[in-house]
Amino acid sequence: MRYQDIDWDTMWQESRAHKSWKKKKSSDWDQRAAGFAERNLDSPFVAQFMAHLHTEPDWTVLDVGSGPGTLAIPLSSQVRKVTALDYSAAMLAELNKQAKAAGRDNITTVQGSWTDDWQALSIPRHEVAIASRSLSVDDLKGALSKLNAWASRAVYVVDRVGAGPFDPDLFGAIGRDFEPGPDYIFTLNILYTLGIHAQVDFLTLDKRRTYTSREEALQSYRWMVDDLTAEEEERLAAYVNARLSHTSDGSWQLARQTPPRWALIWWRTDG
Ligand SMILES: C[S@@+](CC[C@H](N)C(=O)[O-])C[C@H]1O[C@@H](n2cnc3c(N)ncnc32)[C@H](O)[C@@H]1O
Repeated sequence: MRYQDIDWDTMWQESRAHKSWKKKKSSDWDQRAAGFAERNLDSPFVAQFMAHLHTEPDWTVLDVGSGPGTLAIPLSSQVRKVTALDYSAAMLAELNKQAKAAGRDNITTVQGSWTDDWQALSIPRHEVAIASRSLSVDDLKGALSKLNAWASRAVYVVDRVGAGPFDPDLFGAIGRDFEPGPDYIFTLNILYTLGIHAQVDFLTLDKRRTYTSREEALQSYRWMVDDLTAEEEERLAAYVNARLSHTSDGSWQLARQTPPRWALIWWRTDG
């Protein structure tokens, strides 16, 4: 078999069809917006991502699938202007709230999707385009090509490594199978088929995370499972409680076996 004979796109589609969680619509993200913001805006992921990103003060950044501004808000203090594109109105409302609280006035939010006509949405080419944990699309090749076309300097994409943020042990504990679906290696190979030779850095978060309450720790796990039944909720709580310890300062520390891992895939578009 030759490398050229591997159809990465079809393999990606097939792997996606077997993943353990459902594809989310914009209304699903609307419902998750407040919880997502609470869990992610101060995540150690942000500092790790920012440490790998190169920007200049007069550059502009397009953040596709920006969510509540996990990256758009810290980025806005480093560049001239950020455009945050997301199809969830509630995510963009969270972003605007956070930006206001942080005193940032150089972020433009645009409600739209990967497949909309970005020219019709008046989104110009930016120096840098990023898509962090937001490549939930039907046409991965098309989405990557689009990002590439919208960046005059560089593109940064964050994709899962294996289970990514999911804790695979949880699924066994509640009696469900776990199939993470395709991870970054498909993205990297699809980029190769587009003639893009990308670099990869790995962002590995700590196995332990501190929470202010037991409920907050539980919330950090509930999102992982679609349509939790009452029985599964009990098992999830037992699983989390068994890994929680109350620290002397009154906070709660949750330790898991598998750390959350992400691949930061990036390439220059200016040759
Ligand atoms: C997991 S969150 C990531 C948010 C942020 N980029 C981060 O890394 O924290 C995924 C975001 O992508 C958005 N999203 C998912 N599919 C999208 C699509 N087809 N078009 C536009 N936004 C999309 C969701 O609304 C959500 O805000």
